[in-house]
Amino acid sequence: MLYVIGVGVGKPEFLTLEALEKLRKSDIVIVPKSKKSSRSVAFNVIKDFVDKDKIQFFSFPTTNDKDELKRAYDSQALMIEKLLNEGKTVSYTTIGDVSIYSTFNYLSERLKDLGIYFEIIPGIPSFVAFADRIKIPLSLKDESFAVVEMKKGVGHIVKLFEYFDTVVIMKVNNRIDELLEIVEMVKPKDAWLGKNLFLEKEEIVDLNKTDKINEAYLSLAVLRR
Ligand SMILES: C[S@@+](CC[C@H](N)C(=O)[O-])C[C@H]1O[C@@H](n2cnc3c(N)ncnc32)[C@H](O)[C@@H]1O
Repeated sequence: MLYVIGVGVGKPEFLTLEALEKLRKSDIVIVPKSKKSSRSVAFNVIKDFVDKDKIQFFSFPTTNDKDELKRAYDSQALMIEKLLNEGKTVSYTTIGDVSIYSTFNYLSERLKDLGIYFEIIPGIPSFVAFADRIKIPLSLKDESFAVVEMKKGVGHIVKLFEYFDTVVIMKVNNRIDELLEIVEMVKPKDAWLGKNLFLEKEEIVDLNKTDKINEAYLSLAVLRR
C-alpha cells in the first residue's frame, strides 16, 4: 500500500493523527529532497516519529527540462513499484498538503500509468498556517481569495485584485523586488511575508513597513485589500 502524506509546514504538531498512524505503520518512508539543498522540511517534521532506517531520500529534479523530469519521475515510480511488489507499506511525504504545488503531482502521473493505487492523507497548507499565524482571514463572508505563484509576474498578480479580496503569493524566492512592486501598486491594507515559517530561522515581515528584504527561499506572502 502507498500513502501520500501531507506533513504540514515545519512544526511536528501539525501532523494529523492519520498521518502519524500511516507513518508508524510504514516499512519505508520516502522523503523528497532537493538536489540543491541539504535540508528537508519534511524530514525535520517526521524524524522523531519514524525509525531512521526506514527513511529513504528521493532527490527531486530542479530542472524545467521535460525529458529530464520525465526520466527522474519514471525512475522514482519504478522504485516505488519495486518496494510495493516486495510487499512493503510505503509512505511518500510532502510538505503542506499534497494538492498544492507538490512535486508528487508529477510522480502521480507515472504511478497511475503503472496502475499503482495510492491514498492521499491531507496536510495543513503553508498559506493556511501563515494566515492563522498572523491572524488575517483569507476570506470573510461574500469574499474570495486566490493562490498564485510569484513567477506569474507583477501584471498578472495585480489584476487578481480586481476579483479577489486576498491574494496568496507562493514561491517568492528571489523575486522580492517584484513583490514590493505589487505592494506599491495595490496598496493592500495588510501585506505580510512569511519566511521559513515554523522553522528555526522564521521571519515574518510587514511589507507595508519595509522596502528592503533579503532573498526569501522558503517564503510566501499574503496581501489583503
Ligand atoms: C513546492 S511548494 C509546496 C506547497 C505545499 N504543498 C503547501 O501546501 O503549502 C513550496 C512553497 O510553499 C511555501 N511554503 C511551504 N512551507 C513553507 C514554510 N515553512 N514557510 C514559508 N513558506 C512555505 C513557499 O511559498 C514555498 O516556496
